Amino acid sequence: MERKKSGKKKPLPPYEIRIVSRGSQLKKIGAKALMEYFNPIIASRAHVLLQKKVTLAQEEKYVLEQAKLLDSKRLVKIFLFVDGKIAGVSEIRRSAIPSEAHNTVFSIAITPKWQGRGFGELLLRRAIVEAMARFSPKRMWLDRYSGNKIAGKLYEKVGFVEVARLKGYHSHYNKYEDKVFMEYRGKHARKK
Ligand SMILES: CC(C)(COP(=O)(O)OP(=O)(O)OC[C@H]1O[C@@H](n2cnc3c(N)ncnc32)[C@H](O)[C@@H]1OP(=O)(O)O)[C@@H](O)C(=O)NCCC(=O)NCCS
Repeated sequence: MERKKSGKKKPLPPYEIRIVSRGSQLKKIGAKALMEYFNPIIASRAHVLLQKKVTLAQEEKYVLEQAKLLDSKRLVKIFLFVDGKIAGVSEIRRSAIPSEAHNTVFSIAITPKWQGRGFGELLLRRAIVEAMARFSPKRMWLDRYSGNKIAGKLYEKVGFVEVARLKGYHSHYNKYEDKVFMEYRGKHARKK
């Protein structure tokens, strides 16, 4: 949904940022809390990969898979908690393929209740700083589906530019959408 510029945003409520870089940390957060975070995002039709609500059993499997990736040092998750619940997550992923390991890829989602308050920008900026500190990548990327204009605005604001597009790559609720690739060119980018 497009938004009118309406001056100042509401001040942020108290929040906690937790960097999760080990499988045991994710297991501690647990499948139930993750399911309760994902399902409102899926219900809002913003998720391009998940278009059906997830079950606890699916989430338990996901936690085990993601825990392995975290322990392989190819994934870091940045959690945002508000009122003790997951309000947003940003991920930094690095390929297991040595010839691609100089890249990192980000993803981000804020739960609908807390969107439009500045958390997305805060979390993505933090993810960029963490990615530089942990992986010192030569290039940083993310992608979105073309209909996700809000994400596009956030990404541009933070320093990403569109570099490529795959026409009709995603099927999103029976509509074909382009996959838009964006590369980070902001102030933390390494000189090429
Ligand atoms: C996209 C998303 C991460 C943005 O996070 P957010 O916390 O809602 O955004 P913020 O409040 O931090 O806003 C940051 C910038 O995003 C853009 N933005 C946010 N909401 C917007 C809206 N409703 N309309 C237009 N632009 C918007 C603006 O550029 C804004 O900067 P500004 O306030 O100076 O104009 C969040 O809406 C979300 O998680 N959506 C669902 C999942 C998703 O789409 N993830 C991305 C997958 S590609």
